[in-house]
Amino acid sequence: MNLKEIAAASAVKLIKDGQIIGLGTGSTMRYALKEIARRIYEDELEILCVPSSLDTQFLAVESGIPLTTFEEHQSIDIDIDGADEVDRDLNLIKGGGAAHTREKIIARHAKRFVVIVDESKVKNKLSMPVPVEVLPFAWKVAESELKKLKGIPKLRKAESKAGPVITDNGNFVLDVDFGEIRNPKKLEEEINAIAGVIENGIFAGMASEVHVGTKKGVIVKRCTRSE
Ligand code: A5P
Repeated sequence: MNLKEIAAASAVKLIKDGQIIGLGTGSTMRYALKEIARRIYEDELEILCVPSSLDTQFLAVESGIPLTTFEEHQSIDIDIDGADEVDRDLNLIKGGGAAHTREKIIARHAKRFVVIVDESKVKNKLSMPVPVEVLPFAWKVAESELKKLKGIPKLRKAESKAGPVITDNGNFVLDVDFGEIRNPKKLEEEINAIAGVIENGIFAGMASEVHVGTKKGVIVKRCTRSE
C-alpha cells in the first residue's frame, strides 16, 4: 500500500452502518472509494453517500456505492476528503481538482470532516496558490480585486481542450499566489467577499482530524480548537 492508500484506509475504518458519508474528490479519495466499495461488498456495510464532484459520482456509481443528495439528507455524519496542503493547525488548501466549492459545502454540513493525505502535503504554513472559483461573467473584475489583496492570479487552463478549466458548476478557476499565508481564516473571508467569487480553496479551521500516511504508518492529527 502506498501512503495515500494507508491514509484512506484509516479514515474508511471510521464509517459505521446507517451513516451518511460525504465523498471528496481526487487521487487519495479514489483509494477511499475503493475501500468503501470493498466494505460494502465484504462487510455488508450499509451507507448512503453524497459525492462532491462528477468524477467521484461516476466512480461511486461504477463501484456500486449507493448515492444520495442534499435534497434528501442535509446532515453528513462523516465527510472524507483529500487536500493539497495541510498546515500545523490543520488549515487546508484544496481545489487542485477544481472541486473545492462542493467539497466545502459538504464539509460545512458534516459532523466530522476527516482529511486524508500523504506526508508530502503537511507543511508548517500554507503557501501554494489558492484555487478560487469565479463566475465567468466576472472573472476579470475578480482578478483585479484579487491583485488588490496582493495575490498573483492565473486563470487555470484546461489540459484536454483549448481554453480555461470549467468546473462542475460551469465556472472558471483562478489560482492565486499569495506566498506564505499568515492568516488563512482572514484571507479565506477576504477572497469570498469579492463579487463574482463563488468559493476559494482555503478551508480554515474546518478539519476535525487529518489522517497522514507516512513511511512509519498513519498518524492521526486531531483538531484542538475549542469551538
Ligand atoms: C479537489 O478539487 C481537491 O480539493 C482534492 O481534494 C485535492 O486536490 C487533493 O487531491 P489529491 O488527493 O489528488 O492530491
